[in-house]
Amino acid sequence: MPTIAVGSDHAAIALRRAIAAHLTGRGLDVVELGPGDGEKSDYPEQARLVAEAVVRHDAELGVLCCGTGIGMSIAANKIAGIRAALVHDPVTARLAAQHNAANVLCLGGRLLAPEYATELVDAWLDTAFEARHQRRLDMIAALERAGD
Ligand code: RB5
Repeated sequence: MPTIAVGSDHAAIALRRAIAAHLTGRGLDVVELGPGDGEKSDYPEQARLVAEAVVRHDAELGVLCCGTGIGMSIAANKIAGIRAALVHDPVTARLAAQHNAANVLCLGGRLLAPEYATELVDAWLDTAFEARHQRRLDMIAALERAGD
């Protein structure tokens, strides 16, 4: 079973817990990272933990939740090998997998109801990458190498 690392900052603990429970219910192995109830945690640090778990192959995929998902997506995309996609609806969730092979999904805990957010997670997980887009992923990897 694939392992999914799920993390959040303090603004999205409830969404993180709902997504972790949903993924466990789907039979996936979940590693849950992030603050406990009432604790504060900055999104760049949680993004780093999940992103590094993915690039180390401790997890195949990651889900990151903060208030808007914006900070998590910005931070996670600083880690080479991460393609983090901030999504708000089933179409962008599906295309994040189909066109971008997003290995991290970012969601806004202050914007999305948990039941809706888990639908977006399912749309992402249940969509296959289309190989015709591989050339652009290679171009992104080249951008990372150019920045070294
Ligand atoms: C924290 O208040 C908030 O800024 C954070 O969760 C996130 O929305 C940032 O993008």
